[in-house]
Amino acid sequence: MAIFFVRVRNLFAPAHREVSQLLLIHESPKTNLFLEIFNGAHIIRAFGKENFFVRKQAENLDNFNILKILEVSIKGWFSIRIHLISILLIIAAASFIIFGDFSAAMAGVIATSIFECEKDFLDFLENLSKFQKDMVSLKRCYDFCSYKPEEIRSQPQQAILPPSSLQEEQQKINFDSKVSASSISFVNVWAKYRQDLNYILKEITFSISSGEKIGILGKTGSGKSSLFMALLRIMPIEKGAIVLGDININEIPLKDLRSSMSVITQNPYLFSGKLRECIDPYSKYTEEQLLNTLYLTHITDILKQQYSESNILDIQIGGNGGNISAGIKQLICLSGAILQKKKIVLIDEATSNIDISTEELLYKNIQSLLLSATVLIISQRVKTVMDLDRVVILDNFQIIEEGNPRELLKNSNSKLYSMWIESSQISPQKK
Ligand SMILES: Nc1ncnc2c1ncn2[C@@H]1O[C@H](COP(=O)(O)OP(=O)(O)O)[C@@H](O)[C@H]1O
Ligand SMILES: [Mg+2]
Repeated sequence: MAIFFVRVRNLFAPAHREVSQLLLIHESPKTNLFLEIFNGAHIIRAFGKENFFVRKQAENLDNFNILKILEVSIKGWFSIRIHLISILLIIAAASFIIFGDFSAAMAGVIATSIFECEKDFLDFLENLSKFQKDMVSLKRCYDFCSYKPEEIRSQPQQAILPPSSLQEEQQKINFDSKVSASSISFVNVWAKYRQDLNYILKEITFSISSGEKIGILGKTGSGKSSLFMALLRIMPIEKGAIVLGDININEIPLKDLRSSMSVITQNPYLFSGKLRECIDPYSKYTEEQLLNTLYLTHITDILKQQYSESNILDIQIGGNGGNISAGIKQLICLSGAILQKKKIVLIDEATSNIDISTEELLYKNIQSLLLSATVLIISQRVKTVMDLDRVVILDNFQIIEEGNPRELLKNSNSKLYSMWIESSQISPQKK
């Protein structure tokens, strides 16, 4: 009977383990898509894509259910055999009692023990299979842990530095000077997100000197955000180089590179906690400095109107700023960037949810707010970049125009001029 049990278990265990693992893998797409549909229902309806998503989710459910049915069948198969073994065990014990020479009391003890034993045996098997299933989750965690960290993956990039002497120079300079530099040069940069995709940055060549404020304009999808992705080494550079100070960014440890810049994105993420923790997570600044910065970003009055806290720094922010508007979230992130005084500040349409008058006021002040920093500002609104030192216009992943915005605006053949006319519908001369 023991041999029969071992053989049954050896057949059951590997099959059950594999199916459990596949079930876990197929559970994620089903749950993810459900959440996406749940959160984006209004967008799906607006584009009339209900059938597409229903079909997609039905496919996910089918894949999951096929495996679920398989799992139930495997468990059923095993359960039938195990119960068969225990029935045989009871029959054997009953025959033993009937044909053996036992007193009634002894026969009772044996029968009770056998039933107890059978129950424990089934419990043991159940716990064993549960344990094996739980171990599958642990194995999934282990698989995630064994992914190579980003730094190791991104190290072997073979970016080619055009001026060969620059490479020799690099080796002489230590890391400290690299990260403190704030001039940036894009030297014939070609980049794509993945090998099998097209180039998203093509022939990008321009330089930004220390402390310059640059506006980046272009249609949606023209590659503006991808410039930042390349600068932060999120997108690998295929050809050319981005040089920070006089060091290729590929030579700078990823952590140092990214911590040398403040990045404000279109959809900033805020951790839950008090407002003071959001803008100063390491408690490095005084209360006065924090309040001053909030005042400079024009956020103080808005917060005072909306919240009853006597000190606005004590306002409680929910998970990912769930209890505050997108515009305020962007201003809070901007305050953090101003406070940290990083040498390079990247702003990606960070004021898209702020009313136009506050935005204009902010950009007018950005020169003084981020005085010594090199600032790159991606914006959809031409007006917001007019006070900056230079603008770079991207189209179809290439630079099509570059120069001082005021100068460019004087030339009616320039791209900026036509963008200005398009956006404001007023002649620049009237301004
Ligand atoms: N993570 C990504 N993986 C693959 N392609 C991407 C990724 N992010 C953006 N893209 C593609 O890169 C192109 C430029 O996008 P992006 O730089 O975000 O444009 P912009 O900021 O000018 O609107 C788009 O065609 C977009 O589909
Ligand atoms: Mg973008």
